Amino acid sequence: MNVLSLDNFSIEQINKILDLAEEFKNGKEVDYKGKKVISNLFFEPSTRTHYSFDMAALKLGCRTQNFDAGNSSLKKGESLYDTVKTFEMFGTDAVVIRHVENEYYNQLVGKINIPILNAGDGTGNHPSQSLLDLLTIRQEFGKFEGLKAVIVGDIKHSRVAHTNIKIMQRLGMTVYTSGPEEYKEEGYNFVDFDEIIDKVDVVMLLRVQHERHEKSMIETVEEYHKLHGLNYERMEKMKDTAIIMHPAPFNRGVEIADDVVECKKARIFKQVQNGVYIRMALIYMALEEKL
Ligand code: CP
Repeated sequence: MNVLSLDNFSIEQINKILDLAEEFKNGKEVDYKGKKVISNLFFEPSTRTHYSFDMAALKLGCRTQNFDAGNSSLKKGESLYDTVKTFEMFGTDAVVIRHVENEYYNQLVGKINIPILNAGDGTGNHPSQSLLDLLTIRQEFGKFEGLKAVIVGDIKHSRVAHTNIKIMQRLGMTVYTSGPEEYKEEGYNFVDFDEIIDKVDVVMLLRVQHERHEKSMIETVEEYHKLHGLNYERMEKMKDTAIIMHPAPFNRGVEIADDVVECKKARIFKQVQNGVYIRMALIYMALEEKL
């Protein structure tokens, strides 16, 4: 069973994944006793997704392989498909892949005979991130229907925004976007941050994805922070029950002020922790071929 995009899962299945992650959080034990191997193939940098998939696999009693793209035969021109097929032939049980190309997995599906867990494709999908975001929201509010969220920042280049907007809307949430005009995306409800901040339940901030920009950002860091950043003053305007989220890595003093990162409304490190439970659920589902 592959996990490529949340579009392939029904709402019922999404809730089942969250339930399973919650079970792992509450101590559900699965021990593969070293008999399963998970290979983490990251063709793009990552800290949270890479090492929380690794931690999730270790907690399930799997062994792991962590591919070092910079010292691999990619440097000799080996393709994505040939690299993944090589790991399949080594005998690994599942591959976790992050790649710069949108929907890179289309070149693998049907030809790779072990589960593929998508750890992020270009500006397209980041299913495990969205699931951990949803788990964090559900833990907070106990529901999705009727909640309002604003996602602020580099919407255009963010796979987190693209994945979250679609799944949050399917779950009955109202999603607004905000940030610099140059990163606005047509078709999304674009609003002024200061107009919406006191009306939403979730404020989700995004990093400016410089690595995906063809030209550098127009605004300076100071301007960006002033216009679109969550500073202490803005945070205090949020509803008492509202929460702050960020997929991280975050840039302190740019999209989020240093003194807001761990304030009482922030759930950013809780998201990181939930990431391990979600990835345990995904690996377990993939290995057991069931949901
Ligand atoms: N949120 C996220 O995907 O972080 P990493 O790039 O560190 O994996």
